[in-house]
Amino acid sequence: MPEIATATVATVTGLLSDIAATGADPLRGGYTRPVYSTAELDLREWFIEQATKRGLSVETDRNGAIWAWWDIPGGDRSNSLITGSHLDSVPGGGHFDGPLGVASALVAVDMLKARITTPTRPLAVVVFSEEEGSRFGVACLGSRLMTGAIDADKARNLSDPEGNTFADIARANGLDPRFLGKDEQLLGQIGAFVELHVEQGRGLIDLNRPIAVASSILGHGRWRLSINGQGNHAGTTLMADRRDPMIAASRTVVAIRDTARQQPHARATVGRLQPVPGGTNVIASRVDFWLDVRHPDDAITASLVESIHTQAQLIAAEEGCTIELTEESLSPTVHFDPGLQQQLQHALPDAPMLDTGAGHDAGVLSPLVPTAMLFVRNPSGISHSPEEHVLDEDAETGAQTLADALAALMT
Ligand code: GLV
Ligand code: MN
Ligand code: MN
Repeated sequence: MPEIATATVATVTGLLSDIAATGADPLRGGYTRPVYSTAELDLREWFIEQATKRGLSVETDRNGAIWAWWDIPGGDRSNSLITGSHLDSVPGGGHFDGPLGVASALVAVDMLKARITTPTRPLAVVVFSEEEGSRFGVACLGSRLMTGAIDADKARNLSDPEGNTFADIARANGLDPRFLGKDEQLLGQIGAFVELHVEQGRGLIDLNRPIAVASSILGHGRWRLSINGQGNHAGTTLMADRRDPMIAASRTVVAIRDTARQQPHARATVGRLQPVPGGTNVIASRVDFWLDVRHPDDAITASLVESIHTQAQLIAAEEGCTIELTEESLSPTVHFDPGLQQQLQHALPDAPMLDTGAGHDAGVLSPLVPTAMLFVRNPSGISHSPEEHVLDEDAETGAQTLADALAALMT
């Protein structure tokens, strides 16, 4: 494909409108783009086409992330500058969570190409895979694999709701599952990673500013709770004779809410609950549900989960059931690299600092490479929902700000 003319600078809204129909979910509303679904594969193809049009060299790494490189003469990739985000979504998610960072990165490359013919540092736009963990359960699976934050065997054995293992799906999508895991070589090439992302709360609305630099990410984790009871007939089983895991699960959900309410700054959510076998006239034999807990102090997150587990065990016993709790992922609180933060604050003096309760690949990378994030105002203050929003002018300001930040880091 021919290289894009250096003067051609796309718009973020134009790029996002290219993919506005991809993965649109008529049932839930918004977008459903699980990793390696038809929708996410179409988005990967769109990204590769856009990157190729810009003359970037596209490579897929051993863990399924796509890297589009703007190399320096000679091709040395040490001390590279990386930007980008993800293209997968939660079920029924918004239009911006992930794709805004990818589209803004492409536009920032256009802006830099209009200013300079060769970069002084190699630059790449990255698309991480399974950031939301909405198919295999572990958030930021791609960046966790790359950094060794998840054991490769554990990742290979994760399964999706249809029972496919991650190894099988990775193989079907051109990866060799034997090579999943920590990528020292690629990690060693990264000098800095700057991820732009839609803000997922109300911080910038309240500050009346379009863009912020991130300060920290709340520690967070996911746990699966399985309550086992006695499956039985809804009509013939007397109320006194039941061991119904749905009752134990419901009482536990309320206990989770009450526990989190008593702890300042805590957030605890059950957003997914699955009765087995799941029939209207069937008392479930088992209920699986997933707990998401977040707090700035990792020790408090651990003690909240311990307290929830103890309460759930008591509730389950009262209902004649048993319970199992399994940790699926854990991400400690992240404070972004102070040096990089300072450089960004210097380059973007109008941008306030904001923390966030949402997880990101930048957080997973941060123990190993300097990372930073930029947030773009979301006038609804809502995310992981079709109501997530970004104003057109803020989207373009975001790309311009990202280009300015990358330009500052090139010098
Ligand atoms: C990802 O968006 C998360 O915070 O769960
Ligand atoms: Mn995201
Ligand atoms: Mn998200």
